[in-house]
Amino acid sequence: MRYLKYGKSGIYVSEIALGAMTFGDRNSWKLGGLSQQTTNEMVKRAYDYGINLYDTADVYDEGESEKALGIAVKDFRDEIHIATKVRGKTGNGINNVGLSRAHISRSIKGSLKRLNTDYIDIYQFHSFDYHVPFDESMEAMQDLVERGDVFYPGVSNFTAWQMATFNAVAREKGYEHYQSAQMNYSLLNRDIEHEILPYMEHDNMTLLAWSPLHGGVLSGKYTSKIDLKPGTRMGDRGFVFPRFDEKRYPKILNEMEKVASEQGCSVANVALSWLRAKKVVIILGARTLEQFEENMKSVDVNLTAEQIQSLDKISEEREQYPNWMIGRMDRGRTFETA
Ligand SMILES: NC(=O)c1ccc[n+]([C@@H]2O[C@H](COP(=O)([O-])OP(=O)(O)OC[C@H]3O[C@@H](n4cnc5c(N)ncnc54)[C@H](OP(=O)(O)O)[C@@H]3O)[C@@H](O)[C@H]2O)c1
Repeated sequence: MRYLKYGKSGIYVSEIALGAMTFGDRNSWKLGGLSQQTTNEMVKRAYDYGINLYDTADVYDEGESEKALGIAVKDFRDEIHIATKVRGKTGNGINNVGLSRAHISRSIKGSLKRLNTDYIDIYQFHSFDYHVPFDESMEAMQDLVERGDVFYPGVSNFTAWQMATFNAVAREKGYEHYQSAQMNYSLLNRDIEHEILPYMEHDNMTLLAWSPLHGGVLSGKYTSKIDLKPGTRMGDRGFVFPRFDEKRYPKILNEMEKVASEQGCSVANVALSWLRAKKVVIILGARTLEQFEENMKSVDVNLTAEQIQSLDKISEEREQYPNWMIGRMDRGRTFETA
């Protein structure tokens, strides 16, 4: 297992993290409904592979995911890192959602209890909240850091200006740096390359890539048309998530199949190995132990420079303004630096 430095912090996290969105046998979001027994087995296998980061959220399976994860990591809690989130709707009151001090303060209590732990390693704002002054959210997070409830703050589903503002304010006020952003990133969605990744690199934030197989679309089990078969999350839920441009999918799948046959691996492994080549943390999702084992094979699949280039090219998105204008202004400005 390879380990990456986590943001500007002093810890290292495994390049593969395990996502707990399929955990919880209430199965309220129809994402997996893994039993406690299967959860225990998957988490133990992940731990044995050297995975030291586990991602959940207060809203996953209405809290059951956090409970299941807490039980599964009990024997090695202090050797691993738990990332959870706050922001989603956790009750019927008008304020049981969002990034207010009230909701954050209540939500962390619930997460600590369900996870059966005294601290959250990485506490993430699940998305930006336009209803709450961000000073309020940041002060509430800082209080949790100072109390020792949270070690590292993180964000998820933020735009680049939102991340940059949070970290600028954190610097100004002497608050803890927001070390990571959890964002959707895969061969089917490279949106974050336009603004978000360049900012994150500039400010030493770590990317935790969610839905690396685009919810299963990139696992190789769907032909060029996404058929909603029962027994899969897409089929059980009746819709495709995350959204993407289905017109682009057949040619990307075609290239992935070509690379998979050259490497002698699965299409899912190609999708995950492409992300490994980008040196990001991949939050793996699996509904069965077989899928988990299949996906773990990707740590031994090293794509060649040509294969990465061909996948980059086929999945390339239109360069956005003003980036193409900035590039244009720099034409011919090539030189070697010491
Ligand atoms: N921050 C956020 O907003 C956000 C959003 C989403 C996810 N996440 C995080 O990211 C983690 C991973 O997301 P994800 O579950 O969507 O990941 P994903 O890898 O894109 O999708 C996982 C799903 O794909 C299918 N699958 C996986 N491996 C397969 C294989 N080898 N062969 C065939 N099918 C396979 C399974 O679904 P089926 O068998 O049911 O088809 C599995 O549950 C989550 O657990 C969560 O921690 C965060």
